[in-house]
Amino acid sequence: MKAIIPAAGLGTRFLPVTRVVPKEMLPIGAKPALELIVDEARAAGADEIVIVISEGKELIRKYFEGQPDIRFVYQKEQKGLGHAVLQAEIDDDALILLGDALVVGCCAAKEMVEVSKAHGGAAVIGCERVPKEKVSRYGIMKLDGDRIVDMVEKPAVEEAPSDIAVAGRYLLPAAIFGYLKTQTPGKGGEIQLTDAIRRMLSERDAYAYVYPGKRQDIGNPDGYFAALEAYRGINQN
Ligand code: UTP
Repeated sequence: MKAIIPAAGLGTRFLPVTRVVPKEMLPIGAKPALELIVDEARAAGADEIVIVISEGKELIRKYFEGQPDIRFVYQKEQKGLGHAVLQAEIDDDALILLGDALVVGCCAAKEMVEVSKAHGGAAVIGCERVPKEKVSRYGIMKLDGDRIVDMVEKPAVEEAPSDIAVAGRYLLPAAIFGYLKTQTPGKGGEIQLTDAIRRMLSERDAYAYVYPGKRQDIGNPDGYFAALEAYRGINQN
């Protein structure tokens, strides 16, 4: 298994600092946020970590260069998360960790690997439970037990099939790249990872796993403040 960390986005919700500092490199104590994610990928057993960056985000490369088993690929145009993942194409299972999503608490990715094994190597999507009144902000799972039947992007409260939301971590088979290659642009004109996964669901089983630990989205200042608060006092070594 290899890990892919998409970190090529424009970070517009975190301007102006993201004009020079990638949001993924904002400090959580003494470490950049992205290093906590790299640590999580390593703890899950990834033997290589591919970080997707873009022009102007070379600070990321500079920081991690020389660390073993990390390589970089460029996304030349910001055509969406699915497109970013495709730039890192590998011929192995892909553990995808969003570069601006931190999970405070133990080992979300590692536990997803265990869940996948228990399901014969099937795809696993890391999830969190969200308050019912907030489902319209998330990608929401339609489930049969823990098997994913479908995923609904930002449903109205009364139409939401559950309160279980996609939460920044995916363990997908190499076959996902085939779906991404033929994926047409979706919401926002972007190549959406969710759209490719939904197509995959008609041919392969995938499971939702509500991981322990709280997801912190550092893609905007409020989320970043919350992440700092959540990590206060946690030993990061
Ligand atoms: P986001 O949608 O949260 O990041 O993507 P963004 O595009 O930087 O956000 P705004 O709207 O401009 O503020 C989640 C993760 O996917 C990466 C981002 O870097 C982030 O870590 N991403 C997103 C890419 O690598 N490429 C893309 O085209 C989009």
